[in-house]
Amino acid sequence: MIAYEDLFQLNKPFLESYKESFSDSLDKGWFVLGNKVTTFEAEFASYCGSEYAAGLASGLDALVLALKYFEFPEGSEVIVPSNTYIATIIAIYNNGLVPVLVEPDITTYNIDPSKIEEKIGSKTKAIMLVHLYGKACDMQPIMELSEKYDLKVIEDCAQSHGATYKGKKTGTFGDFGAFSFYPTKNLGALGDGGAILSNDSEAITKIKALRNYGCHEKYYNNYIGINSRLDEIQAGFLSIKLAHLDDINSHKRKLAKLYQENLKSDFILPVVADQFEDVYHIYAVRHPKRDQLREHLLANNIRTEIHYPVPPHQQIALKNRLKGAFPISELIHQTTISLPISFYHTTTEVEEVIEKMNAF
Ligand SMILES: Cc1ncc(COP(=O)(O)O)c(C=O)c1O
Repeated sequence: MIAYEDLFQLNKPFLESYKESFSDSLDKGWFVLGNKVTTFEAEFASYCGSEYAAGLASGLDALVLALKYFEFPEGSEVIVPSNTYIATIIAIYNNGLVPVLVEPDITTYNIDPSKIEEKIGSKTKAIMLVHLYGKACDMQPIMELSEKYDLKVIEDCAQSHGATYKGKKTGTFGDFGAFSFYPTKNLGALGDGGAILSNDSEAITKIKALRNYGCHEKYYNNYIGINSRLDEIQAGFLSIKLAHLDDINSHKRKLAKLYQENLKSDFILPVVADQFEDVYHIYAVRHPKRDQLREHLLANNIRTEIHYPVPPHQQIALKNRLKGAFPISELIHQTTISLPISFYHTTTEVEEVIEKMNAF
C-alpha cells in the first residue's frame, strides 16, 4: 500500500535529534516561552527573509491574531479566496469581521487578482490571501491593489513554507505572513504550532503580547489577548526540521516533476510558471471522473486525498452566511485529487502511482 502520508515515516530521519531535543527540554524543565522558542523564531524569520517571527499555537491562531492586531471595526470586510481551507474564513469570523469571497484562477487555484477590485468597498480593510497547495499567489497585482486602496495584506502561508515569487519567499510580501506547523505541513511539528512573520518590530511585539493574554509584562495586560504560545518542545523539533526544509521541498519538487513529465494528458496538472518556485505541499490534479479515479487507485493500493471535498460556502457552518455563486471553486472541489508526495515517498513509489494513473 502506498499511503498518502505516514507521519512516522516522514519523521523517521529526525527521530534521534528529536529525542535529544526532547531530553534537553525535560532536563531543563522549561516548557513555555523559553530559549527554544526564541531560537526557532530567529531561525525561521531568517530562513524566510523576514526580520521577526512570533511562535504561536497553530496556523488558525496566526490568522486570528494577524487580524486581531489591526483592531478593525466590527463588520469590516476582508477579501479571501473562495476555495481556501476553512480556517482562513473562520479566522475572519472569529474577529467579528465579514469575509468577502473572491474566486480563484482555474489554472493556479490561487485568488484571481483580476477579480479582487470589484469586491473592494468602503468597508474593505484587508486582503487575506492563501498560497494554496504550495504555490505563491501572483503578488505584484495584489500588492498594487493593496496600495491603491490602502488595504492590509495578510498571507496565509500554511501550505507554502519556502515557496517563492520572483525569488522572494511567501510570508514576506504583506503586513503579516501566517504559518501553520501542523504535522503534515512541509515544515511540520509533532503536534500543533504556528507563527507570524513581520518586518515591523512594534507589530511583532504586540503579536507576542496578544499570544500571551495581552501582556508585555506578566500580570499587566494591555490587550484582551488569547493563550496561543508555541511549545518549547515543538520549537525544538521545528528547529531540527527547519534545517532540512530545503531538502524536503526539493524532494517534493523532484516527485512533482516526475508526475508532471509522465502523467498522461487526460489529467489537468498543476501549472508551472517562471518566477514561481512551488513547494508542492499538495500535488493536486483534476479529472472529471475524480471519484472513480480515486476508487481505481485505492483498488491498486494507492491512497489519495481530496483538498477539499466541500467548498467553504457549502459547509453547514457557513451556508447561511456566505451568499453568492462560486462555480470555479465548486468545479475544483468536484474534480481535484491529491496524489502522494511526501518527503519519504520514493521515485519508485511515484512511478507506480503514475503507472496506475495512466492505466485509468
Ligand atoms: C490554508 C490553511 N490555512 C490555515 C490552516 C490552519 O492551520 P492549523 O491547522 O495549524 O490551525 C491550514 C491548515 O491546515 C491551511 O491549510
